[in-house]
Order: sequence, then structure tokens, then C-alpha cells
Amino acid sequence: MTDKMEWQGQVGSSWAREWQRTDRSFAPLTQRLIERIIVAGDAERIADIGCGAGELSIKLADALPAADILGLDISSDLIVAATERGSGRSNLNFAVADAATWRDPHFAPDLLVSRHGVMFFDDPVSAFANLADSASDKARIILSCFRSPAENDWAREIATLLPSAPASDPDAPGPFAFANADRVKAIFAAASWSDVAFEAVDFDYVAGSGADPVADALDFFGHIGPAARAIRLLEGDAQTAFVSRLRELAEAHLQDGAVRFAAAAWIVTAQKSFIRSAA
Ligand SMILES: C[S@@+](CC[C@H](N)C(=O)[O-])C[C@H]1O[C@@H](n2cnc3c(N)ncnc32)[C@H](O)[C@@H]1O
Repeated sequence: MTDKMEWQGQVGSSWAREWQRTDRSFAPLTQRLIERIIVAGDAERIADIGCGAGELSIKLADALPAADILGLDISSDLIVAATERGSGRSNLNFAVADAATWRDPHFAPDLLVSRHGVMFFDDPVSAFANLADSASDKARIILSCFRSPAENDWAREIATLLPSAPASDPDAPGPFAFANADRVKAIFAAASWSDVAFEAVDFDYVAGSGADPVADALDFFGHIGPAARAIRLLEGDAQTAFVSRLRELAEAHLQDGAVRFAAAAWIVTAQKSFIRSAA
């Protein structure tokens, strides 16, 4: 589980420092997501929910110069990083905001997008209902999220190295909270979004590259995701043993000059509807 408080604090700060490597890990997915957004047509106002360090917003600002893009994120460190990266673009702005309650009377988006930024709401129905209310009548959503841990080797294999933990709620806020398509459909239906459709995207999650891909992957995993959390919590010999197993895992995934893991995501699309069903 990763909650709002963690993103506002240490987890958000780590992502702000690690944006080059997180962008690299998502690269093939980002390309597909942008293709889907561009093909979808002529949005004038696009809000990027949980924009993080801003790659999706920046690429959309460049690809769609007639559109105004607003990136929203709850982490001020990430918004500082995004603002710096995206500077000089007149059609791009970033703001610190909780998307679950955000409203801007001067910016009703006709398209909501997100790369993996929507799985962390405490109450997703209420958050998506707020996003529907904040958007124009014809608004659409195009977003990505992870499919199950079983289909994401980087998560499944790192989990086998972790000290045993009590089973957690698969629907709790966190990277896999939107893995279950039926759950996502129910959330969207209850929050005034209809025509929900899913595209499965399988991609290579590159965790390490460059002169020493294994060292690069170890450093990346040491700062981002479930391994970083374990390293923070473990001490002494247990921590040393965990890092050594993580190195072996990275070595086993070294292929063509990079440490690669199979990753699996959904691209989810939906249309704002006018009838809100009972939650
Ligand atoms: C997995 S990261 C993805 C970041 C970015 N979209 C990317 O692809 O690099 C999830 C992002 O959602 C943001 N987030 C979490 N809860 C949020 C909320 N309630 N409102 C706005 N942003 C939120 C986090 O701060 C984080 O930047």
C-alpha cells in the first residue's frame, strides 16, 4: 500500500529524484498511451492526474500545441521537478493538488489522462466522481495502470525476496489497486463514467542500463518501489542478505545490455456519463 501521506513525503521525494529512471521503466507504455491520446482527437483542455515529474504532460504539450495541459500532483517535490522540466512551454502548467477534491472553475478538462497516477485514492469512487464533476460534459478519460502482480515479473519476483508479510488487501491504495478490471468498471460506473474499455499492454520494464546495468538496477530498486521499502525497514545482516538476493535477481534479468522485467498494464478509457448509479 502507498497512500497520500507517503506521496506527499518521502516516496514523492524519491520519485522526484528518480524521474529519469522511472520514465525509462515506463518508456514503451508511455509511447502507446500517447498514441491513444493523440488518436482520440481534439481535446482543448487536458488534465494529467497524478502527473508526477511530468513526462506525459510535457510530451502532450509538445504533441498537441493547440491544447492546454495541466499536470496535477499531490507531491510538491514532484511538481517542482515537473515545472522545471516543462519550463518554456506556454500551453503547460503544473499545480500541487489532491485530484480527489480538485476543482478549477477556469479549467474544466475535456480529457483526463494519467500514467499510473490514479491507483492511490482512499475512496476511488468519490475521487472519480469529483473528476467527473470537474470536467466538461463530453469529457473522456485515457489512463494507464498496472495489471496484477502475477503478470508483472518485477513485482512478483521482488516479492519472493521479501521477508514474509501478512497478506494485504489487493484493493488497498497502491500500484495494483486498479489491476482488477471488474473493480475498475464498478468504480467508474458508480462515479459517472461509462463505456469503460481496457487495452492490455505488455512491455519491457527496464530497471537498469548503461555501463553497469546491474548496479544501475540495484540503485533504482534501492530508491523506488517495494525493494526500497524493504531496504528501509530491514537492518544489519537481513538488509545485506536482501540486497545480495536483489543483485542475483538483477543479474538473472540482464539481457542485451539492460536489466529487463516483463511488465503488464491496462490502458483504460471511459466517457463521462450523465447518470450516476448507486455506489
Ligand atoms: C506511480 S506515480 C506516477 C507518476 C507519474 N504519472 C509518472 O508516470 O511518472 C503516482 C503519482 O500519483 C500521485 N498521487 C497520488 N495520490 C494523489 C492524489 N490524491 N492527487 C494527486 N496526485 C496523487 C503521486 O504523488 C505520484 O506522483
